[in-house]
Amino acid sequence: MAKQKKNRDRILIVDDNSEITDVVSMTLDEEGYPCLVANSGEQALSILGNGSGEFSLALIDVKMPGMSGLELLETAMSEYPDMGVMMISGSQDMAQAVEAMRRGALDFISKPFETELLIPRIQKALERVHLERDNREYQKFLEEKVDSRTTALISKHRSLQKLYLSTVEAIVRAIEAKDPYTVGHSKRVSKYCARIAEKLNVPVADLNDIEIAGLLHDVGKIGISDAILAKPSRLSIEEYESIKEHPLISLKIIEPIQELNRVKLFVKHHHEKWDGTGYPDRLKEEGIPVGARILSVADAFDTMWIGRQYHASWDLDTVIEEFKRNRGTQFDPAVVDAFIELVTHDQSAFDLIRQENPPRFSQNGTLRSGS
Ligand SMILES: [Fe+2]
Ligand SMILES: [Fe+2]
Repeated sequence: MAKQKKNRDRILIVDDNSEITDVVSMTLDEEGYPCLVANSGEQALSILGNGSGEFSLALIDVKMPGMSGLELLETAMSEYPDMGVMMISGSQDMAQAVEAMRRGALDFISKPFETELLIPRIQKALERVHLERDNREYQKFLEEKVDSRTTALISKHRSLQKLYLSTVEAIVRAIEAKDPYTVGHSKRVSKYCARIAEKLNVPVADLNDIEIAGLLHDVGKIGISDAILAKPSRLSIEEYESIKEHPLISLKIIEPIQELNRVKLFVKHHHEKWDGTGYPDRLKEEGIPVGARILSVADAFDTMWIGRQYHASWDLDTVIEEFKRNRGTQFDPAVVDAFIELVTHDQSAFDLIRQENPPRFSQNGTLRSGS
């Protein structure tokens, strides 16, 4: 039965598969979202163009006969900039879905999906649509206030920044779409990185890059099979070799973004070890970029402190012991020292990071996540 609440946001569902459009429109209807269905890209454009009112969001299937989801995305983004787009993809279309996000889609959801997961993802996408609309209005207001030359400069700067940030956000959403459990991990690691980098007095520009690297370091896991990522027991040698490819896949994904040049180095080398036995390049000691050395400690800390599907979380004393044991072999001694001092004197800051970005437990209560 339809709920009482009424949402103002209209949603267009575009998919050639009527089973999907039926399920999605029913779920949206129950949540009070007015929606319309199109069975092809061409039909979607005619609905959008016939003046039947504004849509806040379009859910677009990546693969459709005739106009593809990507083509529809391009047209929708240029002709209806106030409407957000979220892609629906089959698991074999993952690469295209990632490409769609690089081109500006807000999110993608893979088929088959649980209907209860759909609404929160849609709400998140709508939040972003509203925020961007408000931003545009604010920017318009500012532009009317200042003289034209200044306006042009500010707006150019903003659009560059926005482009940069939206690309970073799109990539983080790609991780979420693939493995929701990784989201908490990436955010926590990013925040630990910032604390450690600050403690080590690294320059502010580097600190920013290290923080972003923390957020993006595992984005390459989008290229690793779900069966391996979600395996509830220890990995076989072959599976471990496949996981080891993720820093290079991460690099490939962020390669085109020039602003991320330093970040790329940190991401690529976050599994190198101080004694030269890590991967992918077996770099050693100071040869490993400082951001990667910090990231390595932050990443390992999260794995130990939060736990994984195959081992429970450790208490802080055990974690510190483990870092001391691997100081100078796996980890940069200076980074370990800074980290131990931080965590010993300001444990509450780390507790807060964990509270704000809690790990997500699977139904049987075990943790599922990658490192
Ligand atoms: Fe990693
Ligand atoms: Fe990680």
